Amino acid sequence: MNYRKFIEEQSEELKRTVGRGIAINALSGGVDSSVVTALARRALGRQLKTYFIENGLMREGEAQRVVAAFRALGIPVKRVDARAEFLGALKGLTDPEEKREAITRTFYRDVFARLVRESGARFLLHGTILTDIEETVAGIKRQHNILAQLGIDPEKEFGYQVLEPLKTLRKDGVRKVAALLGLPADIVRRMPFPGPALAARIVGEVTEEELKLVRAATAIVEEELKSTRAFQYFAVLLRDRATGIRNQRREFGRIVVVRCIESKDARTAAATRLPWPKLERICARIVELPGVNRCLYDLTPKPPATVEYI
Ligand code: XMP
Repeated sequence: MNYRKFIEEQSEELKRTVGRGIAINALSGGVDSSVVTALARRALGRQLKTYFIENGLMREGEAQRVVAAFRALGIPVKRVDARAEFLGALKGLTDPEEKREAITRTFYRDVFARLVRESGARFLLHGTILTDIEETVAGIKRQHNILAQLGIDPEKEFGYQVLEPLKTLRKDGVRKVAALLGLPADIVRRMPFPGPALAARIVGEVTEEELKLVRAATAIVEEELKSTRAFQYFAVLLRDRATGIRNQRREFGRIVVVRCIESKDARTAAATRLPWPKLERICARIVELPGVNRCLYDLTPKPPATVEYI
C-alpha cells in the first residue's frame, strides 16, 4: 500500500464528510487513536476536538503523559473525568463480555453522547482497524470500538455518525502512517493496550482495590521488560486466591500473572522465552505488593489463548 496516498485520500474524505461541521475523537495515547488524532487534525484543523477520557482504568501517569505528548505536537487535548461513570457501570460485573459491554455503553451512550451535545459535533472519529473488525465479526470477542459490525446504528442510538478512517489498515500499516504523520517514535512503536484498558487485566469484578493492584503490577512488568522489545507485556490479576505464608502466618493471597508475547499483528502469539533471572526478579517485586503471594508466567500461545484475559 502507498501510505502517503492513503493519508491524502483519507484527509480528503474527512474534509468532504465533515464539511464545516465539528468532529470529535477520544485519544487514549495508543497508536491507533494517535494516528486518527494527527490525521484528522491535519484534515480538519480546529474543527476537530480531541478528548482524553479518564475512565479510571488507565495505567500510572497515562493521562498526563498523553496530553503532554500531544501538546508538544501543537494538538490540544481536553481531559474529561468520567472515572465514576465507568467504575459505576462495572460494579458487580464479573462476566468478560458484560464488562466489555458496560465499558462500550458508558463510552458511547453516556460520555460521548454528552460530549457530542456539548460540542455540537455530528461526527465521532474512531481508530478501528481491520483486525478489530475481523475478530469481532468472527465472534472471538467484542472489541471496544466496533459498532456497525455489531449491528448498532450510532446515528439512531446516540445521535452521531462514526467515521473510521483506519479500518482498512493493520497494526503495521498504522505504524507506518504514524511515522509519516510525524508522530514521535515512542508513539509509533508503542505497544498495544486494549480499549477496556486495565479492566481487561482483571479477571472478575473491577474495583478500585483491584485496579490499584494491577496498576502497580503493570508498572513493575513494564519497567522490567521494556528492554526486551517484545510485542506486548503486562500483568493480570486473577480472581482466584492461593494460600501462602507472610510474616510466619498463613495468607490467602492474590495471584498475578505476567504475560509477555512475541507477535507480528496479535492474530497469533507465542510467549517470550525470558531469561530465568529476569523472571525471578519480576516475581520478587510482584510479591512485595500488598496481599499478593503468587506470581505466574503465562506460557500459552494464541491460539488457544487470546492475548488479553477477558
Ligand atoms: P486478544 O486478547 O483479542 O488481543 O488476543 C489482540 C490484541 O488486541 C489488543 N486490543 C484489544 N483486545 N479488546 C481486546 O480484547 C480491545 O478492545 C482491544 N484493543 C486492543 C490486545 O491488547 C492485543 O494486542
